[in-house]
Amino acid sequence: MADFDLVVRGGTAATAVDVFRTDIGIRDGRIVALAADLPPGQREIDATGLLVLPGGVDAHCHLDQPTGDESVMADGFESGTRSAACGGTTTLMPFAAQMKGHSLREAVADYHRRAEGKAFVDYAFHLIVTDPTPHVLGQELPALIRDGYTSFKIYMTYEALKLSDREILDVLALARAERALVMIHAENADCIGWLTERLERAGDVAPRFHAVARPQIAEREATHRAIALAELVDTPVLIVHVSGSEAIEQIRWAKSRGLRIYAETCPQYLFLTADDLAAPGFHGAKCVCSPPPRDRASQAAVWDGLRDGLFQIFSSDHAPFRYDDPKGKKVPMAASRFACIPNGIPGLETRLPLLFSAGVSEGRIDLCQFVALTATNAAKMYGLYPRKGSIAIGGDADLAIWDPAREITIANTMLHHDVDYTPYEGMRVRGWPVTTISRGEIVWSNGTFDATLGRGRFLACEPPQALAPNAGRP
Ligand code: URP
Ligand code: ZN
Ligand code: ZN
Repeated sequence: MADFDLVVRGGTAATAVDVFRTDIGIRDGRIVALAADLPPGQREIDATGLLVLPGGVDAHCHLDQPTGDESVMADGFESGTRSAACGGTTTLMPFAAQMKGHSLREAVADYHRRAEGKAFVDYAFHLIVTDPTPHVLGQELPALIRDGYTSFKIYMTYEALKLSDREILDVLALARAERALVMIHAENADCIGWLTERLERAGDVAPRFHAVARPQIAEREATHRAIALAELVDTPVLIVHVSGSEAIEQIRWAKSRGLRIYAETCPQYLFLTADDLAAPGFHGAKCVCSPPPRDRASQAAVWDGLRDGLFQIFSSDHAPFRYDDPKGKKVPMAASRFACIPNGIPGLETRLPLLFSAGVSEGRIDLCQFVALTATNAAKMYGLYPRKGSIAIGGDADLAIWDPAREITIANTMLHHDVDYTPYEGMRVRGWPVTTISRGEIVWSNGTFDATLGRGRFLACEPPQALAPNAGRP
């Protein structure tokens, strides 16, 4: 009888702090040994010449989320977790979203029904709080936090979702009292509404005007206000999907004052610009997301922030809408109003290879930074560590085995989501996750996906673990 169900042999492992040669012994879905020359397992993977990294934690994605209009998300838990696994991600954190006037608890119950039996890899939920009534703040939210939903997103924009400053203060105070982490979508709703109206009156309704209606100043102002509100309440916040150099300046300023402001960014802010929204015809709609992609200077500022620890988390913000679909980017009003184009782009499967290639392969960040940004920090901030996000004895055997030399030209035909395009079509990357292991089971190996539907489990989150201010750094 072998000691191990599986041994990953001869690879170079990396965590957020170390790179080391080791075999990895796995039993009952967990890592039980890290040493050279382990005895044989029932199964073996030869990882000689390959990198063995923690499976990615995609801490910001949208799956089967009700939109409140005629659009419908293309990916639910089945295709979303499949696509993520094929891109080296083993934990997903989508959002259970409250609709104004409705119960948050009911939103969570509904979201569990959407996920139940459909996930291939493990998942936890963030909440989206849109209606912080006394009942929600006094009863539902504290109880949900204790039940393992320890992070929630709030919006400063979108009419149907946004909170007033007063409501934000109430939510932050509750988060402070209950030890939860608030994620903030920081864009100024009135600036965007005002600009959108003027653009529409002038007949400027093509997809590219989405970026004009959501300029950096709207993100910068809201980021500053979010920081001020968090300072007032003395509680940490995480600014999600930071896109522009001006918002980054605000976060740098806050950190220089010792404030606990954390930040997340996404591939679209490294690899796309506002020019992509000006693609011929209606194709620019494929890159409509909020905040919008910016310019080369902002891309450089995002790289700086990834390198120097301003950003803790690199997520996909996968928000999947098909392009050629009246329930997707081509909802009936979208042709005549950019403001009606569903916001969001796909990215679960390309998140890690894009960052690995332009980051690690091209020398902008090192391997430990890559692991911290794509797995470890999110697991820590959202209360899943050390079970997820590392390679450690006792942790879940969630691993991605990378061939750092594999060169791939990204094409939508090779991806496993249910979206009919990728914004990254034709991009060449070096480094690819060739094998993904979820709780000791090989779910993706050399081009074949093989996992039992429903094997993915829901994860209740612990309270967020504090991160050092420079937690993105090795
Ligand atoms: O455009 C985006 N990012 N759509 C998803 C929703 C959100 O605000 O993250
Ligand atoms: Zn958002
Ligand atoms: Zn999002």
